[in-house]
Amino acid sequence: MSRVKKASRHVNQNEGLIFEKSSPGKAAWLLPPLDVPEVDPAKILGASARADLGHMPEVSEIEIIRHFTRLSTWNYAIDLGMYPLGSCTMKYNPRVNEVVARFEGLANGHPYQPEKISQGALRILQTLSECLIDITGMEAITLQPAAGAHGELTGILLVRAYLEKQGNPRKKILIPDSAHGTNPATAAICGYSVENLKSNAAGMVDVPSLVAQMNSDVAALMLTNPNTLGVFEQEIHKIADILHDKGGLLYMDGANMNALVGKVRPGDFGVDVMHLNLHKTFSTPHGGGGPGSGPVACKQFLEPFLPVPVVITKSDGTIGFDYQRPQSIGRVRAFYGNFGMHVRALAYIMANGPEGLRQTTEDAVLNANYLRQALDGTYELPYKTPSMHEVVFSDRRQATRGVKTGDIAKRLIDYGFHPYTTSFPLIVVLEAPHSTRVSRLDEVAAARKPVLRWKPVSQ
Ligand SMILES: Cc1ncc(COP(=O)(O)O)c(C=O)c1O
Repeated sequence: MSRVKKASRHVNQNEGLIFEKSSPGKAAWLLPPLDVPEVDPAKILGASARADLGHMPEVSEIEIIRHFTRLSTWNYAIDLGMYPLGSCTMKYNPRVNEVVARFEGLANGHPYQPEKISQGALRILQTLSECLIDITGMEAITLQPAAGAHGELTGILLVRAYLEKQGNPRKKILIPDSAHGTNPATAAICGYSVENLKSNAAGMVDVPSLVAQMNSDVAALMLTNPNTLGVFEQEIHKIADILHDKGGLLYMDGANMNALVGKVRPGDFGVDVMHLNLHKTFSTPHGGGGPGSGPVACKQFLEPFLPVPVVITKSDGTIGFDYQRPQSIGRVRAFYGNFGMHVRALAYIMANGPEGLRQTTEDAVLNANYLRQALDGTYELPYKTPSMHEVVFSDRRQATRGVKTGDIAKRLIDYGFHPYTTSFPLIVVLEAPHSTRVSRLDEVAAARKPVLRWKPVSQ
């Protein structure tokens, strides 16, 4: 029996165009006879009324339904198969989260509802805040940012506001070359210049370079930890000390916290401010660009600068929002962020409990190392440092046969995976995927000049 598993293919990859199904006289509608006076559209719409509708498909209702239903099965989704996008891996979204998020009182709650009838929703925000503070070892939090990159923006604005308040505005942010791409973009948007920090042979921050580059111009180091190579910064305490000794702050991109939850806490190893990606670590969905959620947790000295409003317990014991915060960086998001994501994250945290969350972390690291073990030898492993939440291979070996990472990714499509960075180094991969309707698109042209409209050849 063949050991190669069959791809889980789409229902039908050879769906024709709806125009190809068209035949004259067919219609998907049936209207009752007109019982009001007929109106000439041109009288109402003037020159905008179109007399000639061009070439339209003529199909029956069931043909339309089947056509679009079949097309909808081409949408790749986490519920259909693995969706491994490197560090931003799409994770399984437990159904219990969805059940809880659909509870009527939560799903239909309105942000303009008076606080006194929103106590349940506010309690969710407060409980989630407490859980995330506990998990990260930080001291204060905002749940407002709508994505990881938005969290970075918020976090670096806190750093900037704090340093300005100290009368110590600085110019630069240091960013290791293993950082996530959004980090330098964030620093630049906040008005800082970005200085690149070298990685060493182990894929970690090169500490002597940090010592050499750290000075009183540096506002912060933005560190993705574990970084995008899946490597944990083993000298994190020393890194924090180097920053702090010269008056700089340590920002941690905590999007990869799924490797750390329940094991270590950034607040304990010197981080001053960080963001979390609820859609990466706390099982909330992240498709089609969102909605995401990127809470920012910080130490107490940054708390006065948090975005307004903050959730507080009032003197009468009820929960509410506090807007009276003169040092706040202001609003970063309408209302209080993507509340539905907060509900889902809290459902996930409570369903697992501390032991379950720790187990999830262990499983994430185990899974990455399982793949590492399985593929090491076939693919070149550029960094031998132990892997945390992910492992990165290079295509160096395959490249000698003309096969690049992109070819390998394409071939994965034939096996039912959304493309990522490993597959089988067969020479046929140069033309993969073979099982899809179209094989290789010109990716740049498809992204920049997509042709989304069908035109008859004669036009
Ligand atoms: C390490 C890291 N930082 C930041 C981000 C940006 O997060 P988002 O895509 O939610 O803006 C990602 C991607 O998810 C990431 O993996």
